[in-house]
Amino acid sequence: MKLDIADYNSIVYREAGKFEETRFEKIHNVIFKTSNEASILVAHEIADLIRGKAAKNQTCVLGLATGSSPIKVYEELVRMHKEEGLSFVNVITFNLDEYYPMDKSNIQSYHYFMHQHLFDHVDILPENVHIPDGKVSPDELYQYCIDYELKIKAVGGIDFQLLGIGRTGHIGFNEPGSHYNSATRSITLDHLTRSDAAHSFLGIDNVPRKAITMGVGTVRNARRIVLLAWGVSKAEIIKKTVEGEIAAHVPATYLQEHDNTTFVLDEGASEELTRVKTPWLVTSCVWTEELKLKAVVWLSELTGKPILKLTDKDYNDNGMSGLLTEEGTAYDLNIKMFNKLQHTITGWPGGKPNADDSNRPERADIPKKRVIIFSPHPDDDVISMGGTFDRLVEQGHEVHIAYQTSGNIAVSDEEALKFAEISKALNSHSNGADVIIEFLKKKTQNDVDSLEARKLKAMIRRSESLAATRYLGLPDDQVHFLDLPFYETGTIKKNNLSQDDLEIMCNLIENIKPHQIYAAGDLADPHGTHKVCLDVLFEALDVLKQRDYMKDCWVWLYRGAWHEWETYQIEMAVPLSPDQVLRKRHAIFYHQTQKDGVMFQGDDSREFWVRVEDRNRLTAKKYNDLGLAEYAAIEAFKRYHF
Ligand code: F6R
Repeated sequence: MKLDIADYNSIVYREAGKFEETRFEKIHNVIFKTSNEASILVAHEIADLIRGKAAKNQTCVLGLATGSSPIKVYEELVRMHKEEGLSFVNVITFNLDEYYPMDKSNIQSYHYFMHQHLFDHVDILPENVHIPDGKVSPDELYQYCIDYELKIKAVGGIDFQLLGIGRTGHIGFNEPGSHYNSATRSITLDHLTRSDAAHSFLGIDNVPRKAITMGVGTVRNARRIVLLAWGVSKAEIIKKTVEGEIAAHVPATYLQEHDNTTFVLDEGASEELTRVKTPWLVTSCVWTEELKLKAVVWLSELTGKPILKLTDKDYNDNGMSGLLTEEGTAYDLNIKMFNKLQHTITGWPGGKPNADDSNRPERADIPKKRVIIFSPHPDDDVISMGGTFDRLVEQGHEVHIAYQTSGNIAVSDEEALKFAEISKALNSHSNGADVIIEFLKKKTQNDVDSLEARKLKAMIRRSESLAATRYLGLPDDQVHFLDLPFYETGTIKKNNLSQDDLEIMCNLIENIKPHQIYAAGDLADPHGTHKVCLDVLFEALDVLKQRDYMKDCWVWLYRGAWHEWETYQIEMAVPLSPDQVLRKRHAIFYHQTQKDGVMFQGDDSREFWVRVEDRNRLTAKKYNDLGLAEYAAIEAFKRYHF
């Protein structure tokens, strides 16, 4: 029997992903460890299709998406073009959408994005590229959209449609309420969509309110659809789309009725699927220690009972009879899991000298440890682990803070202008401040900061950081500003990591020879700065792991301002007293440019200190609800083994 392209694809993805039993799922999906490996496979599917069509002298019609999700797919296609001769001469493309109104030359336009990531680097014929024009006059818009549809029809429809998914459940810009059979049209963007885009527009007020988008019907007519979703911020909408009922308020659910769709997910985006979150409800499990704890914590939260009160019946009623068979009775299992959680709690994050450490998260020996706290931006240290930082210093460890990036783009122009004017007033002979003042006053939305403006903004963040680290008792020579080069573009889009970034990281570790490293393990946004900062740390650890001193080095990951580890993942829980919570708050306050409505707020409008206090309080409450002692707040860490 001859396989057609759809069969071929599902076989490829099945081999690549874990082929597991599923339940409740209505869309074929494959979960990959990382978005990188997944993106490469998707790029190969596209390349195979292009080549297959070329061999038959046919055109290949691609529907393309923008946003952060497909970036690596385009990067791989460009690589294949350059290194393997993949040609795009037989390719015709139709982009899903464009903001409206939007000029093509605007760096935030999807037009700009597509040329920057794909079209400028491959041999596609310019006349074969179609992207909705964000400058069509309102009078012509209706006809323009009809013509866009007709153009797709005229080339025989879309062979392969690449999609991302918005947190509203939009595909293209088909926001909730979109019709199943909708075609290309203009649409008003949801607030959540605009707030997700605020980051690249330097503030929600600059995000257009409307867009032109292909319709749900246009997308559904594609012969093959692949939707990409990366990171935990997509996990909830992926669950709704894959497991929920088809509904207009989650337009991506319409894909349940398409018979050749694959969702390609990374682990973060799949986190809420039933087979991942609660596999015991789907299949018989291999009960690892981590899975046991996950299941017991889940059961305790579900029943509203502390762990030590869970009964055999609770386990049997909730898909965990297999676990009981392995473990004996609920009584034994409860005590074991309770102790496990109990042993994560310590007021001695650097280890308690002279204490029995067999049931403590950190080692007692090496009473005075050398510690590096890596902070992606100048403030993540105090926001995410200010209390632990405070304790480490107070308990006599040699703490070094390493700010990985300058954080300059998060300083607003108004704030920078204020400092430039002060500097001018203090030093009337310097014309450096004049140049910056003139630049900032004339700066438009499309301008990238000048080098001088960036320097000033970085200096502002340095001074704020030093104020906070001094407050927590750290000498200035233990504060390191790494200014990793990948970040220094002056724009949201950063450079790729280079050897220079890696060397800077390795040199610092090599100089300090730490016993403990803390780093941000916040993977919510796979393309965000935190992820890149973590990647470069992992690369550095890989380079240095054979060094003698690294045998004594333990790595602890904290999470940023946006998420916290799940309770079952926590391996070190550092409680904070009410007074320590206040000290932490105070340290965060020194980062004044990041207070009062910061530029990169996300969809949570609360200030960082409020958000993080809430989060630390919630972790403490979760521990308490599980039956453990009641603390004011807890900072949480997970160990990384390299
Ligand atoms: C982009 C598009 C949108 C995005 C979605 C996810 O052309 O149509 O549907 O795919 O908003 O965006 P990212 O990938 O940035 O999370």
